[in-house]
Parts: sequence; C-alpha cells; structure tokens
Amino acid sequence: MAKSEIKKDIFWVGAVDWNVRNFHGHTYSTSRGTTYNSYLILDEKIALVDTVYGPFAQEMIRRIKEVIDPAKIDYIVVNHVETDHSGALPEILKLCPKARLMGTAKCREGLEKHYYGKWDFQTVKTGDKLNLGKKTLSFIEAPMVHWPDSMFTYCPQEKLLLPNDAFGQHYATAERFDDEVDNAVLMEEATKYYANILWPLGSIILGKIGEVQKMNIPIDMIAPSHGIIWRRDPAEIINAYLSWAKNQTVPKAVIVYETMWGATAKMAERIAQGISDSNIQVKLFDIVVSDRTEIIKEMLNAKGFVIGSSTHDNDMLPTIAAFLEFLKGSKPRERLACAFGSYGWAGGATKEIEGIMKEAGIELAQAGIGVKYTPSEEELNLCYEFGKEFAGKILQEKLSA
Ligand code: FEO
Repeated sequence: MAKSEIKKDIFWVGAVDWNVRNFHGHTYSTSRGTTYNSYLILDEKIALVDTVYGPFAQEMIRRIKEVIDPAKIDYIVVNHVETDHSGALPEILKLCPKARLMGTAKCREGLEKHYYGKWDFQTVKTGDKLNLGKKTLSFIEAPMVHWPDSMFTYCPQEKLLLPNDAFGQHYATAERFDDEVDNAVLMEEATKYYANILWPLGSIILGKIGEVQKMNIPIDMIAPSHGIIWRRDPAEIINAYLSWAKNQTVPKAVIVYETMWGATAKMAERIAQGISDSNIQVKLFDIVVSDRTEIIKEMLNAKGFVIGSSTHDNDMLPTIAAFLEFLKGSKPRERLACAFGSYGWAGGATKEIEGIMKEAGIELAQAGIGVKYTPSEEELNLCYEFGKEFAGKILQEKLSA
C-alpha cells in the first residue's frame, strides 16, 4: 500500500503548506503551517473529494498523476467553497473537463460567484448518494460548519468520513495519520483550530454531531481537509468537539492586558499571583507581544477571563480593544470576567472593558479595580486580593456545577 493510500483505493493527493504563517487574512497565526487535503477515490467511476488552495494546484495535480491520468476523473465533490479547498478547481478542470462537480445548492452559488465558470454541477442534499461501483459516497449537508455551503461526504464501505474543515488542524507534516505524530501537539493544534474558527458555532456543531450519531453510521477514520487524519480513535476528537461545543471549562483564568508604562502589567502580575495562590490555573498574556491565536486557544477551556488596560483618552488601549472585538465574535458562553487597569487623571478603561464583556454575554463576576498612576505596595496587595476573590468565584462555580 502506497504511503498516500489512506484506505484501499483512496489516496491523499493534497498539498503541504510548510511556510504559511497567517491564515484567513491575519485572523489566525499558523505557526506550524498547514495542509490542504484532497482525496482521490478509485472505482469503476473516479471521484476527487475537494481540491487545494490555488497556488498549490500543481502539487495536487502531480500527486494525482502519480496515481492516475487526471482525465479519468468523473466527479469532483466540493464539500466547501472556501478558496483553500476550491482554489485549484480551474486548473484541475482543464485536465478533466468532463468531470461533474457535486455539492450543495449554496456551494453552486458560491462557486459561481468565486470563479464565474460554466461547469457541469449537480446539486446534492443530505441522504443523496453517488454510486462509484463498489464504493458509494453519501452526502450530509452541514451548513455553518462553517460556511453555508459546507457538506460532509461519507463512504460506508470504508467507514470513512470526509468532513472538510471540521476536525481539522493547521499542522504541516510529512505524516498523514494521528498515530504517526505527537498526540499532544496534534490536540494542541486541533484545540487552536476549534477555538479560532469554530467556537462561535458550538450549538450548530452539537446539532450536527447529534444528527450524524443518530444516523448510526460506523466511522473508523475521519479525514479532514486540513492536517492529520484521525484513525487511532476517531471518538477522541468527536468527544473533544462535544466538550468544546457544550462550553465545558476547567477552573482556569486567562489574564490578557495592555500596558502603557508598566503599571497595568504590575497589577496583572499581582492578580495572577492571587489567582495562582488560590490553586486556580492561570495564564497571563501581554496582548502586544503575544500571539492572539494562542490566547484564544487558552481561553477555550478557561472559566475566567481577566482583562486589563491602561486608560487612554478615557478608553482602553487600541490593541486590547481589537482583541476584545475578536473575543466577542467568538461568542464565549458561561464564563466569568473582571477588569482592571491603571489610569492618570481620569479612568475609563475598566468601564469600557466591562461594557464589551456585557455585550459579549460574559458575566461580570466582580467590580473592576483601578489604580492611579503607579501602584503602591498597598495597592498591589489589593490586586492580589482581587485575584483571590476572582479565584473564589471560579471555585464557587465549580462546586455548584
Ligand atoms: Fe479550510 Fe473554510 O476553509
């Protein structure tokens, strides 16, 4: 069996993007690169499931040519319109112009608006099947996991689920399977991916996993469109998704702050000490020097958010303001928060932070703490107590859960 053959007569023909460091514009820092996974299924009829990002079209075509002449492709299943999976369509279709595209109605609409191509397209819905000979592909619409056009493809004969973006990770490797890589790194990347892309869609994801579970379809391999393929125990990543989608948290606080001259940083460190001395896990980030993608990952399972900023023009500083807008879009639920920061003549940052937390639906656990200019030792002790008080709220929540 060739290394690229993931199941009998099913080949990985994707591309590895070792050097990409920013994804989705600059919304996601991909410190370990990514892959664009495309799968070629050989049978009496030949199907390609998803393609790759446009600049990698020739890499995908080269891999297809190692297996078959691309002219033999009968169908291209398009699980998702986003350009990292459909970008190579115009190039591959030059080599297999008679191939029929298959996808949801929203996929058709999206492809037309992206590429303006006159392509043979068959719209499919949940329950529709494509008979390839010995193998069948069945389709499961998955709108908003994570675009309106999203779809899963399932091959019952191989117990193989091809869910496109769901269960993916931005992780460039020469290996293809979960049992070939470090599991801690793999789960870290899967967590980062969920937190930064799928977090706001938790209720939709819960519903979709429930729907698939009710179908009672056996799954022994999940091959997403980014990163590593799950075959060791696919239930592990499904259960992780269920936990994240249910907003399950651990007793942990994440402190994120921006400081002008260091006073707010001093407050942050003393608050962290108060939380840590209460036996609550704490992570601390200066937003200006930290990776936002990493912070959001840390927040995914944290019960408490502690947000700080110096006051500038009666408001918070601009980098933390942008971060909070991003966090608000993640729609965190069932979290506790509090605010802190130093100020000169008039405060304002803590009030603005609290306003955004409320807008985001995050419960304010206690009144914010402000310090004029540089904190004295006495004021730093108050910060320490502020941290202990917040830790107590997190513990209380845990006991009542
Ligand atoms: Fe990997 Fe939604 O694209």
